[in-house]
Amino acid sequence: MIILGLETSCDETAAALVDEGRRVLAQRLLSQHDAHRPYGGVVPEIAARAHLDHLDGLVAETLADAGLTLAEVDGIAATGGPGLIGGVIVGVMTAKALALATGKPFIAVNHLEAHALTARLSDDVAFPYLLLLVSGGHCQLLIVRGVGDYRRLGTTIDDAAGECFDKAAKMMGLGHPGGPAVERAAAGGDPVRFALPRPMRGRPGCDMSFSGLKTAVRQALDGLPPGPLSAGDRADLAASLQQAVADVLVERTARAMTLVEAEAGMAESVDGLSSGVALVVAGGVAANAALRTALGALCAARGFRFVAPPMPLCTDNAAMVAWAGLERLRLGISDPLDFRPRPRWPLDPTAPRRVGAGVKA
Ligand code: KG4
Ligand code: ZN
Repeated sequence: MIILGLETSCDETAAALVDEGRRVLAQRLLSQHDAHRPYGGVVPEIAARAHLDHLDGLVAETLADAGLTLAEVDGIAATGGPGLIGGVIVGVMTAKALALATGKPFIAVNHLEAHALTARLSDDVAFPYLLLLVSGGHCQLLIVRGVGDYRRLGTTIDDAAGECFDKAAKMMGLGHPGGPAVERAAAGGDPVRFALPRPMRGRPGCDMSFSGLKTAVRQALDGLPPGPLSAGDRADLAASLQQAVADVLVERTARAMTLVEAEAGMAESVDGLSSGVALVVAGGVAANAALRTALGALCAARGFRFVAPPMPLCTDNAAMVAWAGLERLRLGISDPLDFRPRPRWPLDPTAPRRVGAGVKA
């Protein structure tokens, strides 16, 4: 089985071909970072137009790279949400048109599910596993029980971790996207120089909060001498922020592990989880090396297998969409051509809705 996947939900336009042997046959990705940089964030209208300008060409190039024609593809998957609606519409309409023209099935993929299942493409991880999904728009801890079967243990009650990096980076005069800029700036910085808070630490449950951290960065900046931020201060503040975010995520993940262990302790638990279960980290923030190291250490201490997909599969890409489409299609799941793009699309519909959560993934 070979699936063509399209990703257009935020600021990357991407196409990829993936097969059942977990091979990425070809992939093309265009980042719009330069187009959005002057605005310090993603401008939805600019993103939608750029997707429209480039997606057709990327699909043709991806097929050519793999030496395949559409006739040899078994299904066409596109991110159907959640995300910036203009971009999602471009991807969904393109996929539907290709599906209609070729008579192949169309699969609408939940972008979060694409992130969630990436570890099965990269590392062949078996269900169930614990997932920390950390991106620019989402920050959740989930038990992944199967395709389409998720239980949310916790979520951010305000900003996502990536959003916190992006907003703090803007205040510190670092570029967009903020996460990689903060990581670069943090190299050589002192992570204990600024006493930033660790929101929600010690609270019951697995919910997270990051907006207070952003405010604390503002206050730290206000407390420095007026004038341009020195390279040393910037490095120390970036390192302190990165440490605070990692500490919060590690503490919340540790709690989720306890829940998982408690469930595993119950005879024949519904989730079938047991010790030796994997912790998978996914989403753009999972590209952060300090966070990976901290989560790796947590896993070693708690007896969990740590799985972090390669960086290009953590940030938005089309291979993950193609793979999620493949996982669905091989279970016989596809979508009608009147599927409506969904700007909001929770993975666990039974979880309480968070009003403050962003729409990006
Ligand atoms: O999953 P993703 O590519 O896109 C969506 O949010 O849909 O995640 C992007 C987020 C941005 O907030 C970006 O600043 C963050 O991931 N990010 C990072 C790193 N690379 C990307 N955050 C921290 N460290 C990084 N190296
Ligand atoms: Zn994403």
